Amino acid sequence: MNDLSSLPDDFVWGAATSAYQIEGAVDEDGRAPSIWDTFSHTPGKIDNDDHGDRACEHYHRYSEDIDLMKRLKLDAYRFSVAWPRVVPQADGRVNAEGLAFYDRLVDGLLEAGITPHGTLYHWDLPQAQQDRGGWPLRETAERFGEFVEVVADRLGDRVKHWATLNEPLCSSWIGHLEGRMAPGWTDLTAAVRTSYHLHLGHGFAVRALRERIPDAQIGIVNNLSPIIPASDSEADRLAAVRADGHINRWWLDPIVGRGYPEDMVKLYGVELPVQDGDMELISAPLDWMGLNYYFRQFVADDPTGAVPSFRQTPGPNAEHTVMDWEVDADGIYQLLKRLTDEYGVQKIFITENGSAYYDTVTADGRVDDPERTAYLEGHLAACARAVAEGAPLAGYFAWSLLDNFEWAYGYDKRFGLVHVDYDTQVRTIKSSGHRYTEMITAHRAR
Ligand code: IFM
Repeated sequence: MNDLSSLPDDFVWGAATSAYQIEGAVDEDGRAPSIWDTFSHTPGKIDNDDHGDRACEHYHRYSEDIDLMKRLKLDAYRFSVAWPRVVPQADGRVNAEGLAFYDRLVDGLLEAGITPHGTLYHWDLPQAQQDRGGWPLRETAERFGEFVEVVADRLGDRVKHWATLNEPLCSSWIGHLEGRMAPGWTDLTAAVRTSYHLHLGHGFAVRALRERIPDAQIGIVNNLSPIIPASDSEADRLAAVRADGHINRWWLDPIVGRGYPEDMVKLYGVELPVQDGDMELISAPLDWMGLNYYFRQFVADDPTGAVPSFRQTPGPNAEHTVMDWEVDADGIYQLLKRLTDEYGVQKIFITENGSAYYDTVTADGRVDDPERTAYLEGHLAACARAVAEGAPLAGYFAWSLLDNFEWAYGYDKRFGLVHVDYDTQVRTIKSSGHRYTEMITAHRAR
């Protein structure tokens, strides 16, 4: 049995999703396309040419999904608000029907005794905003701030926990540098400008939330990785410093008021379009920081590769998920310690952590997922170890509540605590989900 005794009494047990990955109903009630609709309908971009048109039909089945959360005994649910549902075009017009969906969802959650944790940007930029230039432009950060004002005005009386951005690294580096996510660009200048304007959008969002929701609890969600040099060579050690800058420091330093890491600014060679007051907005005080953890990264020098000139090498653990991500629970401990000791973060949520496998339903209707169960237990135990050593961890959100659209990988890779049959939309709680409920119950009963 894993020792979770150090977790605080008011530890928040949750699960997370995001709008495009589960909602479906992409052309209903005034929603307009996002960059992910465009990308997923571009042949060859997504495994099996899957897309989010239908996904888990959560837009229509949200009540059933709230019932599942109740059965799992969750304290909290992390979801994202789809910008293209609420402000579908670039003209700023608010779509009342889109907002009404989140009203119903939030009311349903509160009725069920589940605390809503909203995320304001989980990658689904309205295509109309992309057509005007997207995140490489300052204008997009300004429009994002306006979208947040609309959401805060409508939901702020009931939703107090807000994350501004989810994993800006992915929108910037994977979306604009590596091209594997929407909008699919491979342009370093655009990628660096995107990262800057996402941070600025975060700053506008924090300001809008503070003005409108005086008791808001506001944070930002980053996906971070421990970085380990592939060998002792000087070249690999320097590559690890660059990788740490690219993957971790670039996303943390400006937020905590240290500015962008000088070594990386120099390495990228892209001038940041900073205007007066921007860095103060970007580093406005937060109430918590969100950590999404999946894997650590071993890196080697790649002198002929594009900036930042490192490549990932395989980790030594034999165990991998079907994403081919090395299973390493110690990484979550390392990152919690780093946020606490090096960055002085006062309150942390694990906003995502989970594992993908090819789960199937047995003839008698069960989904047995021992690997995911072990992953969950191991990572929670590592969290508890960090808490015992002082990490201010306030809660854990499993990724994900439901199997869902795993971006460029489509639907085959299943992260849910709950299995979704995409033909029938039947939901089945997996054995890992039942185990999670046991852990929650035991923690509450102690
Ligand atoms: O599914 C994603 C999620 O949208 C963002 N964080 C990582 C998850 C697994 O890849």
